[in-house]
Amino acid sequence: MAYNLDQKTVIITGANSGIGKAAAIQLAQLNATVVLACRSLDRGAKALADVKSASHSEKIELMQVDLSSQASIRRFAENYQCRHDRLDVLIHNAANFDHTLAKPTLTADGVETILATNHVGVFLMTHLLLEMLRNSAPSRIITVASKGLLLYPFLDIEFDNLQGERKFSTQHAYYHSKLAQIMYTYALAERLQGTGVTVNCVQVTNVAIPEERLTHLPAWMRKVYALKRRMSITPEQQAQTYVYLAAAPEVQEITGGYWDENNQQVRSNRKSYNRQTQERLWAESERLAGIQR
Ligand SMILES: NC(=O)c1ccc[n+]([C@@H]2O[C@H](COP(=O)([O-])OP(=O)(O)OC[C@H]3O[C@@H](n4cnc5c(N)ncnc54)[C@H](OP(=O)(O)O)[C@@H]3O)[C@@H](O)[C@H]2O)c1
Repeated sequence: MAYNLDQKTVIITGANSGIGKAAAIQLAQLNATVVLACRSLDRGAKALADVKSASHSEKIELMQVDLSSQASIRRFAENYQCRHDRLDVLIHNAANFDHTLAKPTLTADGVETILATNHVGVFLMTHLLLEMLRNSAPSRIITVASKGLLLYPFLDIEFDNLQGERKFSTQHAYYHSKLAQIMYTYALAERLQGTGVTVNCVQVTNVAIPEERLTHLPAWMRKVYALKRRMSITPEQQAQTYVYLAAAPEVQEITGGYWDENNQQVRSNRKSYNRQTQERLWAESERLAGIQR
């Protein structure tokens, strides 16, 4: 992939680990200015050093953001706009899949933590940076869902269970939030028609998760992950789809797509195409993100 992103600035959330970090390295190797948007400044600083050394680029910057906190996202967007005058690619890679949550946990904003991080935070961050994306057009937004949704072909947005009020498991909340990301991508693409800002969603497949991120899990769960790892692709392989969607000239005009790890467009869950549900979800997301119409 010989793209040149010399004049482009990219934000990647959750860039201190896994696919996000691998994508940061690949984008920096293509000469992009890369902003690592990380929850922990300590983990982010380690990633910053690794990304600089692996890419031989100095055009990398670390900024703090906690996607589960709306105040943190607002601070991030403000700081970013003070420090930069353009934004060409916004990659919403970070996500919470915290197996230790036995019941719904609310954030300071009163939103269930997995939904807050994986969907509402993404919605708010895009909203706050959209004007800059429009002013930098042609520009691109990339959202991230999961191939695991294939196991839930009938899953729909549960408006009476958005916060896990009726039933909760990490797995359910996670796939619910990822379905929300797909629907959000489709609804946002409609709204951005003709602006030069595109939005596409990645169907991330089974990707190896670094062992050091699993040390807090019970032994049996670490064994499951070890088995899964044998059937996984590497973060570097999956990151190539992020880079393709961020950089390839042939996708510049394509919006509202759902893309697999082979850079091919695929269908998402049948219910994700329901326009009424998308619009209802949009209104709920605005409410949960504290966005005034
Ligand atoms: N790995 C897979 O098999 C797989 C499958 C389907 C989809 N995905 C999706 O692929 C994306 C990347 O996953 P990965 O495999 O690279 O996982 P990972 O290595 O665990 O990385 C997740 C990243 O998200 C960050 N994050 C979590 N909560 C955050 C918050 N509140 N604020 C800011 N950052 C936060 C983490 O930061 P900390 O270091 O602070 O925790 C970490 O940098 C995610 O969207 C995930 O849902 C992965």
